[in-house]
Amino acid sequence: MKWPAKRITESSTKSFGMYEKAIPMMEQGIDVIHLEVGMPSFDTPAHIKEAAKQALDDGQVHYSDFRGLQKFREALAEKVFERNYIEAGADEILVCSGVTHAAFAICMAAIDTGDEVIVLEPYYPQHVNKIELPGGKVVPVPLDKANGFRIDAEAIERAVTPNTRMIALVNPANPTGRVFTYEELESLADVARRRDLLVMADEVYEQITYDGNRHISIASLPGMKERTLTMYAFTKAYAMDGWRMGYIVADKKFMPAILKITMNDIAHLNTFIQEGGYAAIKGSQDCVRDMVAEDRRRGELVVRRMNAMPGVSCRMPEGTIYAFPDVSATGVPSEQIADELLEQAHVVVEEGTFYGDTGEGHLRVCFGAEPIERIEEAMDRLEEYFTKLMNR
Ligand SMILES: Cc1ncc(COP(=O)(O)O)c(C=O)c1O
Repeated sequence: MKWPAKRITESSTKSFGMYEKAIPMMEQGIDVIHLEVGMPSFDTPAHIKEAAKQALDDGQVHYSDFRGLQKFREALAEKVFERNYIEAGADEILVCSGVTHAAFAICMAAIDTGDEVIVLEPYYPQHVNKIELPGGKVVPVPLDKANGFRIDAEAIERAVTPNTRMIALVNPANPTGRVFTYEELESLADVARRRDLLVMADEVYEQITYDGNRHISIASLPGMKERTLTMYAFTKAYAMDGWRMGYIVADKKFMPAILKITMNDIAHLNTFIQEGGYAAIKGSQDCVRDMVAEDRRRGELVVRRMNAMPGVSCRMPEGTIYAFPDVSATGVPSEQIADELLEQAHVVVEEGTFYGDTGEGHLRVCFGAEPIERIEEAMDRLEEYFTKLMNR
């Protein structure tokens, strides 16, 4: 019996990562601190919730435009023009169920059996699954680890074959916390233009950047709009992960193919929640600024505390809600450290190899999912662990 879902390799279905290993402990009532799942700790801002509630009361409970509400898509087109410098019409926006769904729809629409997709490693594992499902082949290309995980355009170029269809880019990057510079993006764009490749750009962390690191959308670079499929969501910046709302921005020539997928899986996103999304982008952005400021405070705490631990060195991330400390000086594999941290310190972090081999020697520590007091407590526990580890 043929089950195409089998194409998703074992290694990439471990989507729950360390969380799964922590479940038995949580069931025993052990106080486990979660620094693994990238889930915002904040509540969705009140005005956004109110707009969705109002839409329900107003009877927005029926089928609507498959692409998303017209006024919502028009507002999103304005937003991507003003914020991302992407010139797109409302007919080049497709509202969908988060970046997870956006990536699924793009991969199902664009990838055929045998197509190769270049994925920059360390990568976001869920993109791997979606490339494999339609029969695509994942071609990992390491970021330049020795230089702080910069884009290595020469390595990308070397990986291109006649079967290469697409490059998958996550910017700001999970798990490394990098926000790629214009020069890095241009070097990747140059390969894409010359070798006629698509780019699937995951910009779910676009608003979460620190210390003047500006997020640049690759679709805004010359000649890139026509080959880039950009994915955004309300998930992270507006603390709306459970709403499952996002959107694809792509040249209108791509839209019919993508719509064929989304019409057949969700038909369209829930009508009334789109009013929440509309309120989110039309309303004051102070809520985003405040949440990002708090994320930064937590990130700074993690970086300061981890740098004081023996065997650990940690850069301040340029964006996202993840620190990616280097623990290679311990000489212990990252998976073993993550397992021991769970068993001995009851702190859950993700091992760097969860994101591909290039992640070895690192841990991914999420500082967005727990309040600062809990992060402080987690850092005390980590300090004790690393002090013991370096003395054993
Ligand atoms: C890089 C990246 N892309 C996509 C997602 C999922 O986004 P959504 O919840 O909008 O589907 C995440 C969530 O952690 C992520 O880190």
